Amino acid sequence: MKAGTFIRQFLAKDRRDVILRAPEWSDLDDMLEFINSLVEEGAEITVDTMMTREAEVDWLARYLSRVEKDEVVGVVAEADGRFVGQVQVSPKSGRSRHVGVLGIALRDGYRDVGIGTELMREAENQALRLGLELLTLEVYATNDRARHVYEKVGYREVGCVPGAALRDGEYIDSVIMVKEISK
Ligand SMILES: CC(C)(COP(=O)(O)OP(=O)(O)OC[C@H]1O[C@@H](n2cnc3c(N)ncnc32)[C@H](O)[C@@H]1OP(=O)(O)O)[C@@H](O)C(=O)NCCC(=O)NCCS
Repeated sequence: MKAGTFIRQFLAKDRRDVILRAPEWSDLDDMLEFINSLVEEGAEITVDTMMTREAEVDWLARYLSRVEKDEVVGVVAEADGRFVGQVQVSPKSGRSRHVGVLGIALRDGYRDVGIGTELMREAENQALRLGLELLTLEVYATNDRARHVYEKVGYREVGCVPGAALRDGEYIDSVIMVKEISK
């Protein structure tokens, strides 16, 4: 999908207009601030070190190139004229090329108004377009909100990796969830 392609628009539960679109180069500074704000707040994601602008430039260049070639799904949520979060689905390789690994996060201040649910639904549409059949994700067992959203849109828990993450000196289990999307 071409960078910046408009996908659709909806009204969030707080009446804010939200646009779903493909990522684009001008998201760079918002994305950098976003990832570092997640690290700062101690969000329940894997990344726990601040990203430099240089590293983000490299990452975004590679990411946009893969999105444009439909090698990966990338859907951005835009509200108040800025990037506020995104979902990504990265296909696995070889015999697992029909499997996509999903990751999602939203900026603090834009959560709990339905944007994550819409991003999850759009990720599925786009994954189907890429020919994927099964989506998988990992979520920390302590992340009740994320688990609720995933279950709501049809993911089921299939396993758990005990002590998969170490956060503030405490081990946290990682729950594996899947959704078949080809039927
Ligand atoms: C997880 C995340 C993507 C969800 O997106 P979101 O836009 O906040 O979610 P939505 O507003 O669409 O839905 C939230 C739902 O969770 C529910 N919820 C909120 N807090 C909850 C909690 N502590 N326990 C259970 N459910 C909770 C809400 O009531 C709502 O349920 P409903 O749709 O049935 O009414 C977002 O909160 C986020 O980015 N969090 C920080 C980063 C993160 O955790 N990423 C996921 C890593 S696996």
